[in-house]
Amino acid sequence: MRTNIVHIGATELSYEIRGIVNIAEKIQKISKSPIIWENIGDPIQKGTKIPPWMKKIIQEALQNDIVYAYSPTKGLKKTREFIAEKINQEGYIQIDPDDIIFFNGLGDAVSKIYGFLRREARVIGPSPAYPTHSSAEAAHSGYPPITYRLDEDRNWMPDIEELYNKVKYNESIAGIMIINPDNPTGAVFPKEILLEIVEIAKKFNLFIIADEIYINMTYNGEGAVPISRIIDKVTAISLKGISKEFPWPGARCGWIEIYNHHRKPMFEKYINSILNAKMLEVSSTTLPQYVIPEIMSHPEYPKWIQERNEFYKKRSEMLYEIFSKVPYITFNPPKAAFYATIVFQEPLRREMKLEIPNKEVELYLQQILENPNLSNDQRFVYYLLAAKNICVVPLSTFVTPLQGFRCTLLEQDDEKFIKTYETIAQAIVEYYESAKIYV
Ligand SMILES: Cc1ncc(COP(=O)(O)O)c(C=O)c1O
Repeated sequence: MRTNIVHIGATELSYEIRGIVNIAEKIQKISKSPIIWENIGDPIQKGTKIPPWMKKIIQEALQNDIVYAYSPTKGLKKTREFIAEKINQEGYIQIDPDDIIFFNGLGDAVSKIYGFLRREARVIGPSPAYPTHSSAEAAHSGYPPITYRLDEDRNWMPDIEELYNKVKYNESIAGIMIINPDNPTGAVFPKEILLEIVEIAKKFNLFIIADEIYINMTYNGEGAVPISRIIDKVTAISLKGISKEFPWPGARCGWIEIYNHHRKPMFEKYINSILNAKMLEVSSTTLPQYVIPEIMSHPEYPKWIQERNEFYKKRSEMLYEIFSKVPYITFNPPKAAFYATIVFQEPLRREMKLEIPNKEVELYLQQILENPNLSNDQRFVYYLLAAKNICVVPLSTFVTPLQGFRCTLLEQDDEKFIKTYETIAQAIVEYYESAKIYV
């Protein structure tokens, strides 16, 4: 081509959570047996049933012509008023409905938040990192993500000293990103840790991006502290949505709450650029915005959230029961959301393998494994797919030097859940032991 048409950050875009689906589908086709999908955080796909009262609200909304219209760019005023009122009632920060902007899912919000940041300005985020954030941030800058470590030996708590030092010595860092509760680790960061992060932002004049899509999905006994309660005068963006909480991921509906933006003209300008970008797109999906106030204030809503959290708590305990007996790994049972991260403590070796019952699948796997760039945990994940038809996501694709995998707590059927994870537990042992014959 006459001119290079490839974006500077093109190589930074990767989303293995869905990328792996192509390989899994090929294996499904060759083996003629279904894949057990443990890669994607979609409760509906894994059998969660929307309660009838919620469906009724949505059905009734559909009778109203206004839900077929464009909404205002920031989102329906009544819904933004409802959300602002809920924050204001808590008695910490006070926000205006105009401090809220709706998006077509947080995926849309994330790409604009980083996409309209000045290229040289970087946002440091956690490692392991949820790839939607890390890839969008890296793609905007054209360089790999900058991260602070979540420590698997301390229940995935952030390494505050590392965060402090990286911020101190890298002047390009303009913001700190946190995901609380966290994906992929299921950690909930206590108030003291959040306060320390706010202090760093204050000291170095940074803004905070807090992805709080799982804020009400905790089972740690204490809940999670939203950044709105402790942000003080620091400029921040909180991201929230209904994909996981209702759950209604197909609605493509999420919003940002902006705190303290009037205090910093530069931050205000940045927020305006995000809003203008949204304006070029006109607006976000109307129907889900329309039903948010009625669903969230329905008397059954708190009970529904509580029931689901209890379900995931039970799943987390079941996983602990299975994985605490497995050698070679570290497993911190999740305390929120519906993901679990398993870390391989003992180094994986390239000669490790699993027995593949289907010869055709084995041939296909060998082709994939010829790629010299595969990390060792990717090799394990592909072996698990080929040998057991179970699809999880390699941990190394979450911007971390750790090796392992992420799976979900979503399976509704107890027996199937236990069988899947016992199979994975056995596969881990079989994989490590396969190398012993070569020692
Ligand atoms: C931490 C986090 N943020 C954002 C999203 C994306 O949410 P949405 O469906 O609103 O795009 C996800 C989805 O898994 C997530 O885990």
